[in-house]
Amino acid sequence: MSQPRPPRSPGHPPSSRSPAGQRIAVYPGSFDPIHLGHLDLIERCRGLFDVLYVAVLSNDTKRSLFSVEERLDMIRQMTKGYPECRVESFSGLLVDFMDQVGARVVVRGLRAVSDFDYEFQMALMNRKLNSRVETVFMVPKDDLTYVSSRLLKEVCSLGGDLSSFLPDIIWQRLKQRLAPAAKSEHA
Ligand SMILES: Nc1ncnc2c1ncn2[C@@H]1O[C@H](COP(=O)(O)OP(=O)(O)O)[C@@H](O)[C@H]1O
Ligand SMILES: [Mg+2]
Repeated sequence: MSQPRPPRSPGHPPSSRSPAGQRIAVYPGSFDPIHLGHLDLIERCRGLFDVLYVAVLSNDTKRSLFSVEERLDMIRQMTKGYPECRVESFSGLLVDFMDQVGARVVVRGLRAVSDFDYEFQMALMNRKLNSRVETVFMVPKDDLTYVSSRLLKEVCSLGGDLSSFLPDIIWQRLKQRLAPAAKSEHA
C-alpha cells in the first residue's frame, strides 16, 4: 500500500515540472553575441529539460553591440537543429517571464569564482520574488571558461582572430561590425 507523502515545507516548489508536466527552463542573458560558451551550456541542457527558452534580455539601459532582433536571429540560426529550444526576448523581471511561459528553472553559467557573488544574489532574489523558481548553475567545458561576449568584442575590435570561440556565422557578423579592417573598408 502506498504511503501518503509528507507535506512539503511552505514555499518549497512541488517539483521542477510545469503544471502541464513538462520540465521547462529559461536560459536568460544578453547574448551580445552568442558564443561557444553559451552554446556549450545549451548543449548540456539537452535531455535535462523538455523545453529550453533561450531568453534575450531587452534592456534599454545596457548598451549592446547587436540589436535584440539581431541577437535573436543569431541564436535562432545556431539552435535551429534543437527542437526543444525556443528563442524569445523579454523585458522586466525574469520571474514574470518565467510565469508567462510556465518555467520553474533558471539556467545560469558559472565560469569562475568572480561570477559567483552576483549569481548567488540573483538566485536568492529571484527565489524571494517567486518561490517556485529554482536556479541551476552549469559549468562549461574547461577551455571555454574564460570566454565572454565582452572579451570577444574587445579582442575583435583590436583585430584578433576569434574563429575558435565563435561559430563561423557569428564570427563573420562580429568582424563586419567591429574589426578594424572592415571599418577601414567602409571608411
Ligand atoms: N563561456 C561561458 N561558459 C558558460 N557560461 C557562460 C559563458 N559566458 C557566459 N555564460 C553564461 O551565460 C549567461 C548569459 O551571459 P551573458 O550573455 O553575458 O548575459 P548576462 O548579461 O546575463 O551576463 C550567464 O549565465 C553567463 O554566466
Ligand atoms: Mg555576462
